[in-house]
Amino acid sequence: MRMFDVIEAKRDGAVLSDEEIRFFVEGVATGEIPDYQAAALCMAIYLNGMNAHETATLTLAMAASGDQVDLSPIPGIKVDKHSTGGVGDKTTLVVAPLVASLGVPVAKMSGRGLGHTGGTLDKLEAIPGFSTALDRERFFEVVNTVGCAVIGQTGNLCPADKQLYALRDVTATIDSIPLIASSIMSKKIAAGADAILLDVKCGSGAFMKTPEQAIELAKAMVSIGEEVGRTTVALITDMDRPLGKAIGNALEVVEAVRVLEGRGAEDLTAVCVELAANMLSLAGKGDLVACRSLAERQIENGEGLAKLLQMVEAQGGNPHSLEDFSLLPQPGLMREVRSARSGRVFSMNTERCGIASVALGGGRIRKEDGIDYAAGIVLERKTGDRVEVGETLARIYAADEDHLDEGERLLASAYEIRDEKPAELPHFFARVSSSGIDRY
Ligand code: URA
Repeated sequence: MRMFDVIEAKRDGAVLSDEEIRFFVEGVATGEIPDYQAAALCMAIYLNGMNAHETATLTLAMAASGDQVDLSPIPGIKVDKHSTGGVGDKTTLVVAPLVASLGVPVAKMSGRGLGHTGGTLDKLEAIPGFSTALDRERFFEVVNTVGCAVIGQTGNLCPADKQLYALRDVTATIDSIPLIASSIMSKKIAAGADAILLDVKCGSGAFMKTPEQAIELAKAMVSIGEEVGRTTVALITDMDRPLGKAIGNALEVVEAVRVLEGRGAEDLTAVCVELAANMLSLAGKGDLVACRSLAERQIENGEGLAKLLQMVEAQGGNPHSLEDFSLLPQPGLMREVRSARSGRVFSMNTERCGIASVALGGGRIRKEDGIDYAAGIVLERKTGDRVEVGETLARIYAADEDHLDEGERLLASAYEIRDEKPAELPHFFARVSSSGIDRY
């Protein structure tokens, strides 16, 4: 088989055979197919799409391209959660301990932030001493004794996806439904959970800008999961404004603790409860109504927070830093970003809010860059809020004035202030499962 013919076939709109897809994925994983040919096929897929069978074949081939984790030493139904990426999304820090505090094991592999989106590993590593690099034995031990653990992806999980993702990132081929669906689901399948909850973000801070695009992506991922025997559910949630108030690693740890104390922002708390309820329901703890009450109860009685402290301690972190926030990394400087006019926050360019946090030092521009765990943003005003000229829109944190200047410029330009009130934004748009689409 020749890669040239596979590219030509997809360029001309043909359906690829299973053999052609496997040939491509194996060649990418072994390095036999050069980057330029792999990138050319990604562009052909981006332009001409893939049908459900091609997408499932691509996913399974990528899942099989490296290690597959066997979670069977952990008793119980293991439910994984995955967000398609957003700004201010610290839900894993809340949801994993909430669910684990009800006896549902969470053995989670998470990623780092890249581009404008944050990553759970970076947030957890803002906690002094916390290690996301446990070996497999210790990972299982923590899940079996504490109930939850969050680590980085093991070295050889989905190597084909690793190569392709890096190529797609620099060849404008990220936001293609078959390519995103296969990239995410190959990693989820290889990570071994019995059931998968997907949080598909939509809006100005997400890959999918509209609910309809997000539903299409969700349908593709649910159908792949079900095809390989993993019960898969997707929630379509809002990312047209950042989630909660904090953007930046240590700041987001503080906000996650606030949610578990019952003092979190309303939007973030609502999303965390809904995600936890869906995970609990997938683990057989009851219907969604019952599971929402269970999740809320674990916030009220403090057991979710206690579980987070146990997990932090088991992974080498200092649990006292979640009780005394002065033990978390502290920023050098703070500045208030003030409104240039009176009115209502009509919209927020959420991607730009994420880029502002990166510019403050809270994220990486290149993979190898260091990170300032204390840097970031606390939003005082969000979409719909009233603001007077000169009042504070947000507080920004960074190590020096240069970072503050760049962060302020970007963040101020992310706010659109008008006289009129914007339409109310929902937190949830739809729930997609094997039984269909339920709109909220
Ligand atoms: N996240 C992934 O893991 N892959 C994609 O393609 C997009 C988001």
